[in-house]
Amino acid sequence: MANDASAVFDTLSPAVSRGSLADSFTPPADSTLWRKNFLLGAATASYQIEGAVNEDGRLPSIWDTFSAIPGKVLAGDTGAVACDHYHRWEADVEMLASLGLEGYRLSIAWPRVMDAAGVPNRKGLDFYKRLLNRLKEKGITTFVTLYHWDLPQHLEDRGGWLNRDTAYRFADYADLMSRELAGTVDAWATLNEPWCSAYLGYGNGHHAPGLANDRFATQAMHHLLLAHGLAMPVLRANDPASEKGIVANIGRGTPNSDSAADQRAAHLFEVQHNAWILDPLLKGSYPQDLFELWPGTEPLVLDGDMQTISARLDFLGINYYFRTNVASDGAHGFRDVPLEGVERTQMGWEVYPDGLRDLLTGFKKTYHNLPPIYITENGMASDDQVTDGHVEDTQRISFLKRHLAAVDQAIKAGVDIRGYFLWSLMDNFEWAFGYERRFGVVHVDYSTQKRTIKRSAELVAKFLKERKARA
Ligand code: FCB
Repeated sequence: MANDASAVFDTLSPAVSRGSLADSFTPPADSTLWRKNFLLGAATASYQIEGAVNEDGRLPSIWDTFSAIPGKVLAGDTGAVACDHYHRWEADVEMLASLGLEGYRLSIAWPRVMDAAGVPNRKGLDFYKRLLNRLKEKGITTFVTLYHWDLPQHLEDRGGWLNRDTAYRFADYADLMSRELAGTVDAWATLNEPWCSAYLGYGNGHHAPGLANDRFATQAMHHLLLAHGLAMPVLRANDPASEKGIVANIGRGTPNSDSAADQRAAHLFEVQHNAWILDPLLKGSYPQDLFELWPGTEPLVLDGDMQTISARLDFLGINYYFRTNVASDGAHGFRDVPLEGVERTQMGWEVYPDGLRDLLTGFKKTYHNLPPIYITENGMASDDQVTDGHVEDTQRISFLKRHLAAVDQAIKAGVDIRGYFLWSLMDNFEWAFGYERRFGVVHVDYSTQKRTIKRSAELVAKFLKERKARA
């Protein structure tokens, strides 16, 4: 969730900057993470790594347009070159395999694979076919996201996610991709983080297409979820053997005091971040409290939409990064009250692993039909430097260890969690923050495109090797 442009950067807590954590990265003997069928992988997204934005018939996306507008992205960065993965994919797959990572979550660039009339672009399709075939040859489990925010600009020109028709165009796109790629995809995710697309894209304008209106956000969300719902049966028909689901980012909101008003504020925070997406998917209705927060923003919903949206999911992907401490804003909403003296990352996000565990165990209680879960993103940014060919990303090692422990606790509390993907395989274009924020377990030198395996990746690889040897 790249949403807090004005984040304050606290210094790291001293415990984190000390060594020795690295040695204890491996989970304890009773951890469920030792189970061989707990999938451990890494994730990326098309616009953040591919580059080659004008090659082989790729059309412009809303992120090409948005990042070209001065002031929208830190330092004026764009995804034009990114990690040059479009050309370096073979070496990147080798790197992934050499780390022993078992799963890879990637996304497809919609503007690469079909034109405005829906005509397939063979060259774009072939890129993903080659990539997925190679991943399968390497024995890597493939999770493919259809929409990780790079909407074709021609669709935005016709209203983007404010236009109901975009949902139907998405179903056409899902149809093409699942016919072309069936057999190489283990799991399809329709959307990545509809909260970010709807709220950051149309509600506060921090992301493409940069519109700012709460009413737009709720309508965009409805069309995004409808797009998901329309695509599900298409994916099922074309590729029956794979799993199908959606990826949601979730946020922990905690009250700044015991007062009823602050408790209510924390509740509303979680309604806005979590229930806004999960209720329609899992209960078939929008949470009414959302419209207490944003009065008069009810989206236009047609008959049958909610049934379409709430069709069964094979899995739910969960992305988790931080918690937000909130207080009542004195009216019907909440305001952030950043805590002092807590550990933060380069993004200014608070490191709070318990939030992941508590949200997961809470969802299990709230949603009786909660599907099996994959943690599809978790990780952190740090200002990593290469020194003598090495990157000692100590805070990340500690972060990953503690979040994996939170996952283990949630599993032991009865939540069906089947895997975990690190965000991200490599440093990449971090949306409105450009290249400054480094989330990778592999370092990328953008002037040479040299990849350097960080210490965190080495330790994950070491654990995976040990686990394999024990099996
Ligand atoms: C998530 C996005 C992902 C990345 C991480 C840090 O919101 O899905 O692309 O930017 O945040």
